[in-house]
Amino acid sequence: MYSTFVQRTKSRYETARVNSSFGTRRAAMETIGETSFILVYRDRRRKWLVRPVDTPKLHTHLGILDCKSLVGKPFGIMALTTMNDALYILKPTLEDIVMKFARRTQVIYPKDLAMIVIRCGIRPGSRVFEAGTGSGAATATFASLVGAQGHVYSYDVNPEFQEIARKNLEKFGLMGSISLKNRDAKLGIEERDLDAALVDMGDPWELVPNVKEALAPSGMMAAICPTMNQAEKLTATMKDYGFVNIETIEVLVRNLEARVGMTRPSQIMVAHTCYLTFGRKTQGILEPVPDGRDQEEVEAEGPTGGAEPS
Ligand SMILES: C[S@@+](CC[C@H](N)C(=O)[O-])C[C@H]1O[C@@H](n2cnc3c(N)ncnc32)[C@H](O)[C@@H]1O
Repeated sequence: MYSTFVQRTKSRYETARVNSSFGTRRAAMETIGETSFILVYRDRRRKWLVRPVDTPKLHTHLGILDCKSLVGKPFGIMALTTMNDALYILKPTLEDIVMKFARRTQVIYPKDLAMIVIRCGIRPGSRVFEAGTGSGAATATFASLVGAQGHVYSYDVNPEFQEIARKNLEKFGLMGSISLKNRDAKLGIEERDLDAALVDMGDPWELVPNVKEALAPSGMMAAICPTMNQAEKLTATMKDYGFVNIETIEVLVRNLEARVGMTRPSQIMVAHTCYLTFGRKTQGILEPVPDGRDQEEVEAEGPTGGAEPS
């Protein structure tokens, strides 16, 4: 039964490849390796992130899953436990990975991380600063976007927290474009010409002068504020330092229980994580180019510039 299921999955996958409207064919179907991370999924609440090499047998209340037998198989298959219960073998997303990070600090939730990266315009090649590292959730998100040409500089005053983050990041192979620095960001930021900076520490307004110095002109500062009072104080400081386009937002995600004929909002929701404040660094003044007319001429033309008032 299991092998029939695998065959069926395989042939559906092949058909999807041939019919792809993007015109490009994937080189080969990715198969699970000994060291591949796999998301063993039953439903929203029952899921495990494991590797066959560390967890040859996954013991669950639904029976035991033989993870070794998954090696060489494609992602997306359904596997049966010793109790004949179905578990789905999925390729983990960044969200799956970050939410399973070992943590001693509060982490930024995926809904907020998504907004931060899009507002900050983080892309391959970006150079990003972060204070503090915490458990590395934001660090991992930035690193997965900036790629080999970009870099993430992450400071934390607490070496213990940063060590947990380092292990999380190493485990998922993300350290390639990250520098973790055990440093108090209030004492200065060593990097310059950064594209974006994220401040996630208790008193973000204290870091505004240092962030301004480190950002490239027009660079984006983002900060996490758990309370409105913090967002107010931060905004006032950012204004004082010449930041523009300052906005504070809250990201609310409401799940829907979608069932034919009876769809309604879920009764459970993460009601509050934080407020996000964004602003862009400005610098310098460009005077208007004189157009050759002298002041008397300009005044003679009056407020309509010589045109008849309508
Ligand atoms: C809420 S955690 C950050 C969580 C992180 N953004 C994540 O997604 O995993 C705040 C971190 O800021 C660090 N921190 C506090 N003050 C700092 C400072 N002046 N410089 C650098 N890090 C600081 C703390 O040690 C702590 O690890």
